[in-house]
Amino acid sequence: MPAPADPAVSPIRVEHRRDPLGIGRSRPRLSWTPAVTQTAYELRVDDGDTTFTTGRVDSADCVLVPWPAPALTSRARRTVRVRVWDEHDRVCDWSGPTTLETGLIGDPRTEWTARMVGPAPRLTRVEDPSAGAPAAYLRGVVHLDTGRRVRTARLRATARGLMTLELNGAPVGDEALHPGWTTYRHRLRYRTWDVTDAVRGGDNTLLVHLADGWYRGFVGFGGRREIYGSDTGALVQLEVEYDDGTRHVAGTDDSWHSAASPVTRADIQKGQTLDARRIAPLDALDWLPVQEQEFDPATLVAPTGPAVRATRTVAARDIRTSPSGATLVDFGQNLVGRLRVRVPRAEAGTRLSFRHAEVLEHGELGTRPLRAATQADELVLSGTDNDPRVWEPEFTFHGFRYVQVDGWPGEPRPEDLEAVVLHTDMRPLGEFACSDDLLTRLHENVVWGMRGNFVDLPTDCPQRDERLGWTGDLQIFAPTAAFLYDTAGLLEGWLADLAHDQSPTGVVPPFVPFAELDDMLPPLDAEAGWGDAATVVPWTLYERYGDADILHAQWDSMTGWVDAFAARAGADLDFASGGFSFGDWLDSAAPDDQPWAARVPWQLVATGYLARSARILARAGDVLADRGPRFARQAEHYRGLAERATARFRDEYVTATGRAAFPAQTAYAMAIVFDLLLPRQRQHAGDLLAQQVAADGFRIGTGFLGTPLVCDALADTGHAATAWKLLLQRECPSWLYAVTMGATTVWERWNSMLPDGSINPGAMTSFNHYAFGAIADYLHRRVAGLAPAAPGYRRLRVAPLPTRELEWARASHLTPYGRAEAGWTRQGDDVTVTVTVPPGTEAEVVLPGAMEPLAVGPGEHTFHTTLPEEVAAAKPATFG
Ligand code: BGC
Repeated sequence: MPAPADPAVSPIRVEHRRDPLGIGRSRPRLSWTPAVTQTAYELRVDDGDTTFTTGRVDSADCVLVPWPAPALTSRARRTVRVRVWDEHDRVCDWSGPTTLETGLIGDPRTEWTARMVGPAPRLTRVEDPSAGAPAAYLRGVVHLDTGRRVRTARLRATARGLMTLELNGAPVGDEALHPGWTTYRHRLRYRTWDVTDAVRGGDNTLLVHLADGWYRGFVGFGGRREIYGSDTGALVQLEVEYDDGTRHVAGTDDSWHSAASPVTRADIQKGQTLDARRIAPLDALDWLPVQEQEFDPATLVAPTGPAVRATRTVAARDIRTSPSGATLVDFGQNLVGRLRVRVPRAEAGTRLSFRHAEVLEHGELGTRPLRAATQADELVLSGTDNDPRVWEPEFTFHGFRYVQVDGWPGEPRPEDLEAVVLHTDMRPLGEFACSDDLLTRLHENVVWGMRGNFVDLPTDCPQRDERLGWTGDLQIFAPTAAFLYDTAGLLEGWLADLAHDQSPTGVVPPFVPFAELDDMLPPLDAEAGWGDAATVVPWTLYERYGDADILHAQWDSMTGWVDAFAARAGADLDFASGGFSFGDWLDSAAPDDQPWAARVPWQLVATGYLARSARILARAGDVLADRGPRFARQAEHYRGLAERATARFRDEYVTATGRAAFPAQTAYAMAIVFDLLLPRQRQHAGDLLAQQVAADGFRIGTGFLGTPLVCDALADTGHAATAWKLLLQRECPSWLYAVTMGATTVWERWNSMLPDGSINPGAMTSFNHYAFGAIADYLHRRVAGLAPAAPGYRRLRVAPLPTRELEWARASHLTPYGRAEAGWTRQGDDVTVTVTVPPGTEAEVVLPGAMEPLAVGPGEHTFHTTLPEEVAAAKPATFG
């Protein structure tokens, strides 16, 4: 017996924050990761003067443990530590300290004394409305006592628009695209920075650089700007605490001034221009009074998730001349962010321009799919020392792999240009790799797609004039996303926006934050598979991170949605009132210009989703049952609804034996995975699905809603070999087709690029849409075999699906309890399965071909087995 490891424990994590400064809760929940099997813990909370401890608490809980001490008020600073006892009753050393601090959580009307102020209107007047508006500077001075020492200084700021901040000439923070995009009318996010070292006695100058962003710039399709308001504004509050305990609070008010910025236009979709000829010392600018704006400070919220940041840079791989003579830079990776340019010296008025696109077509920049999002940045040189040495436009982002450079004196060298990758700086959690290079690359493409589409909010795509928080796309992708990165904080905020955007009857808009864009959208109604983000996303967060509070916070939103959905379904739950619905969007059989024209009617997927969402509510109500009688009561109601919808599905869409009335992969896969069939129908449906996949030539025969379900449905009904054949298919439509075409992200359409290298003629063709990348969840859970069997992976289910086609596959995930891993290697028919089970958790391991799970505890485990016969024979289904 090896000696037990010394007990040890990680520092405490606070809520879902990476950096717990300026948190918005008075009772933040605490999590830690013991390196041993915890049997008890003790928490210690220090406020600098006094220490609160829980004493020993006999409990194995270590995830989102309720705040143990008295509730916090605004600006409270605490240092928290934990120690744990292992199963031998040995206690470990105290963890390293975590210091947390609350933001402003009292009455916003008294705590926020700064005002929302905007630049003098003429400064941001738009000359060419199609190109974006000028940015502006706002400047103010805060005088601090010279006779007293500053103990702490905090800066809190937000904007109607996008802002960067300087204090005494030095940049504040490393966030990008602050404050992001929320349902501004209800929620405007502020951040808090520790500026203790940056303030000084006497005058302190605060400078805001302010641009349109989502607030006033172009949003979505339809060419609309000024969705939220016609004036940008900023709110900055500096709070200084002197050594003697007195506090000085000052910020944006009518003493501030505004001036023209050398950024002559800045827009998320259109790009940005810096005219370096207009760069001047701040004191030489023409400063005009700011305008105070109406603003309700009750809308201010502290962030629940991390900020957007530059997380890496990608070097230019190749610079070439196109057939038409254009200079094209290739970064080798379709990514989201912007350029960082080493600025050449050239004469005044030299205009460098950079147009970004995801693909080339016939050797030229393929900009057609961008539609109205021009993604063009410009730098006009002054020919003096005022020209920046390095330039990165700060108020825009682009989806691109290629950049066309015009106006460069001579030719740029690769080291003159790098791509800066931007996304919400979530904690990376999950990895996957396998012996098949194409499949591993597919997974890599999914990860890149996630990075590019989690830029402050989860979007459909990051490049064209769309970039919206489409609910359906996230609904499908949420499990994959939750595995790859810690999405809890970001999605907690997004779900709060979703709830605000629901109609009074509970209808969830098709994208969140919602904005009336143009009449291209069908009238708002309960949209199957899209509105279900209201139920599926919170449930996924609960399942993956063990956060039950999210179910509680979203409960009214979840029930509101299902009620609206049931209302559309009608008394007989048959959706007989008709109308339009996205349905199994982008079915591989749908004509390029009719993405809704799927193999199955939308009413079929709607009935399936109604059953699923009602069932989620029934389960969520059970989870919340100890928080009040209404949850259990409502759970019963939704359980009944789920049963009725399930019965309706069977009556309408399945024969008595399990054959689908609309024989198609989606019809079978949904029936099986959503558990809509009777036991006697299920196996037959699985067999028919396998035959259907064979009849479809082992190619994709599904759209957004069906695609993530097919491989699971096959595997669950004993057709893993058929699932493998579908997964490894390279002909279009398939997951790997795009990979064989050199894709480095997941495409919106199965054939976004046609085999001859031309771009799909449809008006809607993105090369970076994560929806079809939802298959990565299957790679994690089933191919490698790492799945949650209890919330937060407190129990794992390891049921990998080895194949003759691969030698190995492996996935790992940083669960709230520590790192878990599952994988297998194969030599001939011999298979070795390895599992790492985090401390304090357990796993049920179902070896290939076995029926009964083996139960194992924490630690590393190795199992030897052989390929089951049906896999060894590699017998996919045949048609007929
Ligand atoms: C978006 C989608 C979205 C769909 C809704 C498209 O324009 O890009 O991904 O879910 O519309 O039908």
